[in-house]
Amino acid sequence: MKKFMGAAAAAAMLVALSGCAGSSDGAGGGGDESLIVGFSQVGAESGWRTANTISIQDAFEEAGIELKFSDAQGKQENQIKAIRSFIQQQVDVIAFSPVVESGWDTVLKEAKDAGIPVVLTDRSVDSTDTSLYESFLGSDFIVEGEKAGEWVVTEFADADKVNIVELQGTTGAAPANDRAEGFRNKVTDPKFEIIATQTGDFTRAGGKQVMEAFLQANPDIDLVYAHNDDMGLGAIEAIEAAGLVPGEDIKIVTVDAVKDGMTALSEGKINFIVECSPLLGPQLVEIAEKVAAGESVEKRIVTEETTFTQEQAIEALPDRQY
Ligand code: AHR
Repeated sequence: MKKFMGAAAAAAMLVALSGCAGSSDGAGGGGDESLIVGFSQVGAESGWRTANTISIQDAFEEAGIELKFSDAQGKQENQIKAIRSFIQQQVDVIAFSPVVESGWDTVLKEAKDAGIPVVLTDRSVDSTDTSLYESFLGSDFIVEGEKAGEWVVTEFADADKVNIVELQGTTGAAPANDRAEGFRNKVTDPKFEIIATQTGDFTRAGGKQVMEAFLQANPDIDLVYAHNDDMGLGAIEAIEAAGLVPGEDIKIVTVDAVKDGMTALSEGKINFIVECSPLLGPQLVEIAEKVAAGESVEKRIVTEETTFTQEQAIEALPDRQY
């Protein structure tokens, strides 16, 4: 029930509803039509993000639950404003994918004081007080970075020296922090040197621009580790413009496995992709329904993911949803 509804309006609605007893549920397909969820999305920086937004919007529509959707355009201050607005509107549940990890305690406390449960999706926060949110649904980004690092160790097993450049995600974002950490956990042999690392902000344009600068400053790059497909795709453009062959002269490993990335992998321009699934909508609906009903949910729900070689990408592409 919408909490902002006045007592008289609520009573009138109850009367109207009782008059409808026995009628069908309508277009929502039996969904909880009285539930309102506020969702603050990071932005639209990548193919992954677009797929994630569609998954969430479709899942709530299918469940017949009203979703108040807000696009933060990559800015934490916009997310904080959106969360405050959801609190003011007294939504039943707030969900959000934090642009960066730090700086959420105050606004999360405001939601808690207002009695509104918060669900983190895709990315987490670094708050030490974990009572500020009910659940965190999303990937293990450290494991993703480790998978990329493991592939590099195997791929370059016979090499004496490997010069690596890293295209990092948005500075301060959980996937940028954790994918950097996970990768370094694995490429521990001194023959692996990360000769340059810089953020490309998870965008294709950012990846291209940073890669151009890397190529100018470093004549001998063996490998690009890009924290997402989009930056890897931007790097491919820069490598080709420099007259080199991506995937051959310079190997590329990325994270995500969106269709464009998988296509580049199938063509041999990317050499390996670690999957990060954006299809979080259905699980988020389930969690939102439970926390709104006061039911307990798992504090951490890790998304199941795989990895792709060129052959596996060719096989998976025809059925790829995103
Ligand atoms: O938080 C998930 C990451 O954010 C994805 O890997 C990236 O593509 C997106 O922008």
